[in-house]
Amino acid sequence: MSNKQFDVIVIGGGPGGYIAAIRAAQLGFSVACIDEWKNDKGGPAPGGTCTNVGCIPSKALLQSSEHFDQAGHHFADHGIGLSNLTMDIAKMQGRKDTVVKQNNDGILYLLKKNKVSFFHGRGSFVKPANAAVEGGYEIAVTGNANENLTGKHIVLATGSNARVLPGAPFDEEIILSNDGALKMSAVPAKLGVIGSGVIGLEMGSVWRRLGADVTVLEALPTFLGAVDEQIAKEAHKAFTKQGLKINLGVKISEVKKAKKGVSVAYTDAKGEAQTLSVDKLIISIGRTANTIGLNAEAVGLKLDERGTIAVDDHCKTNLPNVWAIGDAVRGPMLAHKAEEEGVAVAERIAGQHPHVNFNTVPWVIYTAPEIAWVGQTEQQLKLEGRAYKAGTFPFMANGRARALGDTTGMVKFLADAKTDEILGVHIVGPQASELIAEAVVAMEFKASAEDIARICHAHPSLSEATKEAALAVDKRSLNF
Ligand code: FAD
Ligand code: NAI
Repeated sequence: MSNKQFDVIVIGGGPGGYIAAIRAAQLGFSVACIDEWKNDKGGPAPGGTCTNVGCIPSKALLQSSEHFDQAGHHFADHGIGLSNLTMDIAKMQGRKDTVVKQNNDGILYLLKKNKVSFFHGRGSFVKPANAAVEGGYEIAVTGNANENLTGKHIVLATGSNARVLPGAPFDEEIILSNDGALKMSAVPAKLGVIGSGVIGLEMGSVWRRLGADVTVLEALPTFLGAVDEQIAKEAHKAFTKQGLKINLGVKISEVKKAKKGVSVAYTDAKGEAQTLSVDKLIISIGRTANTIGLNAEAVGLKLDERGTIAVDDHCKTNLPNVWAIGDAVRGPMLAHKAEEEGVAVAERIAGQHPHVNFNTVPWVIYTAPEIAWVGQTEQQLKLEGRAYKAGTFPFMANGRARALGDTTGMVKFLADAKTDEILGVHIVGPQASELIAEAVVAMEFKASAEDIARICHAHPSLSEATKEAALAVDKRSLNF
């Protein structure tokens, strides 16, 4: 029996993989996409971590919990009275599951529309293909689909898994990864979070807003070290005021499950021994590339010392015609970064010369206030010895923010001292996730701070804070 042959086989149907498959199909290739994620009925659930246990469900829960928080604490400011406010966690989770399913179904539809053959199962290397497919590979699919395929180009988009803290394996009941953190059926009275990174803060915010007493334990002495210091300080102030207990500079000694819940023994920043007893514990200490099941050894695929698939700047692996993208390779673990690499690889296979600009990949933390940034931070510029100018504008002085009742935070611009080129934009405050897009466009076009300052922004809008921060670079804010 001859194998089905494809120009391109993509292994993994997350945001990197399914987008690579669609772009390759648009470019005229015959394409297969293999993904093993199962929904609770055992059927296909493409979209990867992002759709199933990441970006999408977390944002659904952040929205629900934000509504609850608004209703409980802020509606009264608008004259809206509520008595007997309740939260139906099962309904909230059901809504989240529906949102996830809509995305799974949407991806299946898109693959079909673009004539990508979808295979539900695990894809692994068998061997380099025979002469019929020069430079190609034989890939076995096992699972709901069971067959061998042959592809001239292979794109690996196998994503990542939550990093395990030694001695504290996930059981997803008491000790939770992102998966369990998104599925709790009741609000824990006490919730512990190890790691105050993106997942810790987003998931901690969800459950705090719903009533949990949340304590975060972070190893580093600084809060959100990768974020501009001034922005991180402002965010820390806001989160602490909301009731999130953030302990920095801790060293975890032991995580022990108790009769009820779990206890965490740690040394605090002063070197004193402490114990935290909680009902549930989320461990969010980073993620590691997922290459399990690829049978990488069969073809000699090179991994680096951290188990990440080794690639060059163009996502080429050590093997001819084998590419790798997204969380499985170096660089930020973000869905939009995976997508950009997916598009770029498909275009490179077609002989084009695309470029992914890592310096303009935006970051967003979807807490309240939201945190978003692009480009370099002030501390990075100082370290580089680059001469820069800074301009900030607080949302407190923005009319739209006042009308919204959401005046926490600021927009901050960093521009080259001589040329005025924008080097970084940092936002903490309302709708930061949307506002950052203007800064990304500006940086892609190598705009100066003055370019933004001279653009007409709608009034009243939060985006006026962006214009004002750009004006502030030249010390000529109009409204502050
Ligand atoms: P994945 O999305 O992990 O997809 C990989 C797919 O490959 C999976 O379906 C997996 O089952 C499949 N697979 C693996 N091996 C095989 C195999 N051998 N055969 C067949 N299939 C295989 N990023 C953002 O940009 N914004 C956010 O708001 C955001 N929120 C997040 C929230 C949480 C809680 C988490 C955990 C992550 C979040 N991320 C967010 C990160 C984002 O989810 C990842 O960066 C993104 O999913 C990476 O995409 P990917 O395609 O590389 O891998
Ligand atoms: P992270 O890298 O963002 O944060 C991990 C934190 O854990 C760090 O602050 C680290 O210092 C700390 N840590 C590590 N080991 C520790 C230990 N032993 N004890 C205490 N603290 C420890 O990783 P996280 O939150 O797990 O998220 C993984 C990735 O998923 C993110 O880096 C991001 O790329 C992606 N993501 C993106 C989101 C977004 O774009 N909004 C949302 C959620 C996740």
